[in-house]
Amino acid sequence: MKIIKANDYQSMSRMAANIISAQIIMKPDCVLGLATGSSPIGTYDQLVEWYKKGDLDFSQVSSINLDEYVGLSADNDQSYRYFMNTHLFDRVNIDKTRTFVPNGLELDNEKACKAYNEIIKEHGPIDLQLLGLGCNGHIGFNEPGEAFEKETHCVDLTQSTIEANARFFASMDEVPKQAYTMGIKTIMQAKKIVVVVNGKAKAQAVKDCFFGPVTPKVPGSVLQLHNDVTVVGDAEALSLVEGLY
Ligand code: GLP
Repeated sequence: MKIIKANDYQSMSRMAANIISAQIIMKPDCVLGLATGSSPIGTYDQLVEWYKKGDLDFSQVSSINLDEYVGLSADNDQSYRYFMNTHLFDRVNIDKTRTFVPNGLELDNEKACKAYNEIIKEHGPIDLQLLGLGCNGHIGFNEPGEAFEKETHCVDLTQSTIEANARFFASMDEVPKQAYTMGIKTIMQAKKIVVVVNGKAKAQAVKDCFFGPVTPKVPGSVLQLHNDVTVVGDAEALSLVEGLY
């Protein structure tokens, strides 16, 4: 595992975007595993800037996203499909028919998860998986206690995740309580993993995930078992692991 310290959010985003752009240049028809949340927004902005300059071409790239809220449609501005369209897909020349996000409107959990697993099998393996970390160490929506060997499944979000997400919704009642998420087994099958993490609120999660015991209680700790993980963190997120890497 490599840990790279960036001074601030902007420099973290540029470094992560550099790694992703190298992947696209080296393999133009690569499969990117993509994440939502505030952590990767700067990374996507940087990729868009380089695309506009003519430095990057997404025309052959495919993408598979980590997760989606159950019950939200693509045009709901809090859905992860909407997030991906507005932050990346609508701003570059990616073929949208090759961008995949779990179907939040499929309320039959089993059907939704099976369909997504099939998409991953057909288009995968993922060449590069971008990840953020939840404050409780979750990856995608794999909350503490999830078995490491799961593929796509439906999760009941923990109270802390619901509270963390509440800032994006008009009221607590509107915050979805369930999500479909790619499982840890699938995330671990990605050839390369890049984690972006910033801010003080993530410092404990960074310590627990990368310097604590590998345990389902801390989902991100499983990444210690992957052979190609790069963590790009800002100074605040890395503040509790100073001197340990
Ligand atoms: C959500 C997403 C995760 C993301 C996490 C952290 O729970 N499902 O994929 O890593 O939020 O979000 P943020 O980057 O906004 O802190």
